[in-house]
Amino acid sequence: MEIRLYQPQDRAAVREVCLATAYDYDGDGAVLDPRLFTDLMTRAWTDFGAGPLWVAEREGRVQGYLAGCFDLRRFARLQTWRVVPRAVAGAITRGLLFRPALWRLLAGLPRFLAASRRGPRLDRYPADFHVNLLPPVRGNEVGSQLAELFLKEASERGLPGVHVTVYEENEAGRRFFEHLGFRPLGCQPAFRPPPADGHMEWKLVYGREI
Ligand SMILES: CC(C)(COP(=O)(O)OP(=O)(O)OC[C@H]1O[C@@H](n2cnc3c(N)ncnc32)[C@H](O)[C@@H]1OP(=O)(O)O)[C@@H](O)C(=O)NCCC(=O)NCCS
Repeated sequence: MEIRLYQPQDRAAVREVCLATAYDYDGDGAVLDPRLFTDLMTRAWTDFGAGPLWVAEREGRVQGYLAGCFDLRRFARLQTWRVVPRAVAGAITRGLLFRPALWRLLAGLPRFLAASRRGPRLDRYPADFHVNLLPPVRGNEVGSQLAELFLKEASERGLPGVHVTVYEENEAGRRFFEHLGFRPLGCQPAFRPPPADGHMEWKLVYGREI
C-alpha cells in the first residue's frame, strides 16, 4: 500500500471511496443525493485545497483517503461560497426538492441548530480530519498511518490539538480514534435526513491534544 498526496487524476476515485463509505451507503437512498453528498464531502479538498489530502493506493487503485483541515474558517468560507451553492443547485436540477427526506431534514433544522449550539468547545482542538477506507483494506493500519501523518503535520504547525467526529453507531470508527489517543469531548447532532420516526441522530466529538 502506497500512501501519497492527492493528485488531480485521483478525483473520481476519491469521490467513489467517499460515497462507498458513506455510513455504509448501499444505494437505497439513505444518502439524500449521492452527488450532492460527495460534492459537500470532497470538493473543498479536491478542487479548492481546503487542507491536506492523502490517498492510499494499492495496485494502481485508490483504496482510501484522509482529508484534513488546519484552518476551519477558510474551510467554512470555501464551503459557503464555492461548494454549497453549486452543489445544491445541481441537486435541485436532479429532483432534490421532490425528495421527502429533504423536507424531513429541513423540518428538523431548528432542533438541529439548537442542539449544535450546545456542542463541545473546540478552541483547543482547531484542526480536524476524516478518513475513509474501502472494506478490503481495513484492519491493516492504513488508517493509523494516514492519521499519524496528519497529526505530525498538525504538530509541526504548532497546533494545540485535533478533533474528529464520528457517528455514534460507528463502533469501529470510535475504537479507531480511541486507539489513536482521542478522548470523547461531547456530541453534536448529525446533519443528515432523520429516520422515518424522526428521532435525532448524534455524532460523537473526540479530541486529542498534541
Ligand atoms: C475507521 C477506519 C479509518 C480505521 O482504519 P483501519 O486501517 O481499518 O484501522 P487500523 O488497522 O489502523 O486500526 C487501528 C486500531 O483501531 C481499532 N479498530 C480499527 N478497526 C476496528 C474495528 N472494526 N473494530 C474494532 N476496533 C477497530 C483497533 O484498536 C485497531 O488496533 P488493533 O488492530 O491493534 O486492534 C476504517 O475502518 C474505515 O475507513 N472505516 C469506514 C469509514 C469510517 O468509519 N471512518 C471514520 C470516521 S471519519
